[in-house]
Amino acid sequence: MPTKKPPQRALTESNGTMTALKDGAQPSAAARVRRSGSEKLTITILPGDGIGPEVCNEAVRVLRSLGTFHNTEFHFQEKLIGGAAIRATGNPLPEDTLRACLESDAVLLGAVGAPEFDHLPGPQKPEAGLLAIRTALGGFANLRPAVSFRSTADCSPLRRSIVEGADIMFVRELLGGLYFAQPRGFSEDDASAFNTMRYSTEEIERVAIVAFDLARTRRKKVTSVDKANVLETSQLWRRTVNEVGRAYPDVKLDHVYVDACAMHLVTAPTRFDVVLTENLFGDILSDEAAAITGSIGMLSSATVGGDVNLYEPVHGSAPDIAGKGIANPLGAITSAAMLLRHSAGMVHEAADLEAAIQQVLENGYRTVDLASASGGKEHVVGTAEMGGLVEQAFSAMLERRFAYHAV
Ligand code: IPM
Ligand code: MN
Repeated sequence: MPTKKPPQRALTESNGTMTALKDGAQPSAAARVRRSGSEKLTITILPGDGIGPEVCNEAVRVLRSLGTFHNTEFHFQEKLIGGAAIRATGNPLPEDTLRACLESDAVLLGAVGAPEFDHLPGPQKPEAGLLAIRTALGGFANLRPAVSFRSTADCSPLRRSIVEGADIMFVRELLGGLYFAQPRGFSEDDASAFNTMRYSTEEIERVAIVAFDLARTRRKKVTSVDKANVLETSQLWRRTVNEVGRAYPDVKLDHVYVDACAMHLVTAPTRFDVVLTENLFGDILSDEAAAITGSIGMLSSATVGGDVNLYEPVHGSAPDIAGKGIANPLGAITSAAMLLRHSAGMVHEAADLEAAIQQVLENGYRTVDLASASGGKEHVVGTAEMGGLVEQAFSAMLERRFAYHAV
């Protein structure tokens, strides 16, 4: 059995009130790096399926370039998951992958899912590997930012006047609800099927605390999304979120039904700051929010609160464009920025990387997903070229940062 590591802290940038993850006992990876000045950070890369390997390459390339400036040594190890793992071993999450992930400081995943496995029963599908690694790593809070950049506001199918200024942080509960609760299955005669929506107070509390803590580092507003007019789980959700909210008098809390939320996201996305919701609602709403950013290729995520944090772009394996070198790597690269912030304690370097991405977009470079939406006269580039441009801009920023430090 792999040895379990202490839970990682979720919010390395906040001011130390990380009540959700009050483990206290052991220093996080970030703390270890800071203390010794030079440390090895082991990152397991799970490229997975479809465009996963292509976008992971670019995220790793960018992280590697940081290694030349910072005295943290990044050690990358690549492992199989999803369809790629099924092809090689018959198992969507091989034991060797699981062990490597549990023993590393952070995990970066590309995507899982391939049409050739569509016919397999649920537990044998590539997606089962993803759900199993999420469970094993234990992160229950999936942070999914959706931001409209000035330079790409016209890439959205929504009007610039609607999306401009939108900056939403979804906090999606990741280990409960319909995805995991029992009983689930098909009836004996196969004529009906069932899933269970179940949440405990504790599961709601811990993810709500992450949302409120995050709101304190942002615009101090939490919108909790539920279907409390119909579902008991939502009634418990709302009651529990209200209770947690009492400890945060400085954070404004409101509640919105999921159907209304789906509409507000495309009519008035700037009304949201932190959006807190359960697993399936969060899955659906975060994809919808891609419309605000211009392309789902832009969306990143960090899963925190467990033993090892997991970073993954939201876009999925996109088998239709896999292997063509045209996928947008920015979701994966932004996930790497989240890794720097939440697992490496490199808050400034994370901000530099995000600024580098913005600069490349401001200079007019677009992968085809963004370019075709905006219809402008931008420079269309492929996956590797985009990664290279970000790496260059990032290195220039780091050079300035470390030069200042030296004087
Ligand atoms: C996501 C994906 C996954 C999910 C699938 C691939 C299991 O859609 O990360 O949003 O539903 O969580
Ligand atoms: Mn999804």
